[in-house]
Amino acid sequence: MNTPELGLPMVVPAAGLPARVRIHEVGARDGLQNEKATVPTAVKAEFVRRLAGTGLTTVEATSFVHPKWVPQLADAEELYPAVAGLPVELPVLVPNERGLDRALALGARRVAVFASATESFAKANLNRTVDEALAMFEPVVSRAKAADVHVRGYLSMCFGDPWEGAVPVAQVVKVCRALLDMGCDELSLGDTVGVATPGHVTALLTALTGAGVPVSALGVHFHDTYGQALSNTLAALQQGVTTVDASAGGLGGCPYAKSATGNLATEDLVWMLRGLGIDTGVDLGRLVATSVWMAAHLGRPSPSRTVRALSHQES
Ligand code: HMG
Ligand code: MG
Repeated sequence: MNTPELGLPMVVPAAGLPARVRIHEVGARDGLQNEKATVPTAVKAEFVRRLAGTGLTTVEATSFVHPKWVPQLADAEELYPAVAGLPVELPVLVPNERGLDRALALGARRVAVFASATESFAKANLNRTVDEALAMFEPVVSRAKAADVHVRGYLSMCFGDPWEGAVPVAQVVKVCRALLDMGCDELSLGDTVGVATPGHVTALLTALTGAGVPVSALGVHFHDTYGQALSNTLAALQQGVTTVDASAGGLGGCPYAKSATGNLATEDLVWMLRGLGIDTGVDLGRLVATSVWMAAHLGRPSPSRTVRALSHQES
């Protein structure tokens, strides 16, 4: 056991966990897409810059979606060039070939398509059935791969859906397989509305690996609606997952899933991983300072418990 440093947890490793975790930071995209007021492009660019300066290696920057569907990210053409030179991976969301064209025109090297495990959310988020959405992604993935661009496949509603209730594991496995067979390099399993609990996470990951999906291709994406995001993350780490999505300050939600609240806060994740002796490369102090700075721009305190504990924000 190490001596505790001020502002950091004591390090007490636990068996059966990975030595290193890659955090896929989604605050600038999943976080800001859900803000009522659109954040000025210069503030977004500064947010991405500050995040990149914390030691994070993957900072999802924006989405090339229809500007009417997500007006908060309608400035992708201005934002992306402003951050493109940063020494981090900067994935962007692209729902279709139009989005891919826009992203490739600006030199994006990492894109993400975003599927749904349920018909209701596929309709609400993409105006398509699940199969129609997969058909829309197919040329996106094949063209991206031909251009040597890395492709992430998000899958939303992997646990529960606000319209359909519990989502059968087999349904999730089927869409995961389709995304991988299409050529996605990695998948991110989304608990869009935050209803997963650890046993469910273990069951889904066991089913996926049982169906031949390598755990190295899987990331997890938890929203913290019911306060389960960290325990769900620990369950995923115990199954060998080493890619975890999180949002600085716990920003987030989804404009097309009413009950979605903030993502797992990156600071809460880093605190837990640091305590477990798991390397992330992230400087927690800088990250907290970034979220406090962003909270001041948004005009409300960060919901992250770790940000609150390590800063002196008014709640
Ligand atoms: P649609 O209305 O069916 O579009 O929307 P369409 O294909 O019929 O095209 C209609 C018009 O839109 C055409 O223009 C297209 O060119 C244009 P027109 O010919 O009529 O002048 N258009 C575009 N313009 C700019 N960029 C584009 C684009 N695509 C079409 N990319 C569409 C279909 C997929 C476009 C729409 O539903 C959409 O943009 N949806 C995005 C919704 C979204 O971004 N949701 C949030 C991200 S997902 C999420 O947050 C979950 C996640 O975090 C994981 C989790 O938590 O679960 C990832
Ligand atoms: Mg999300």
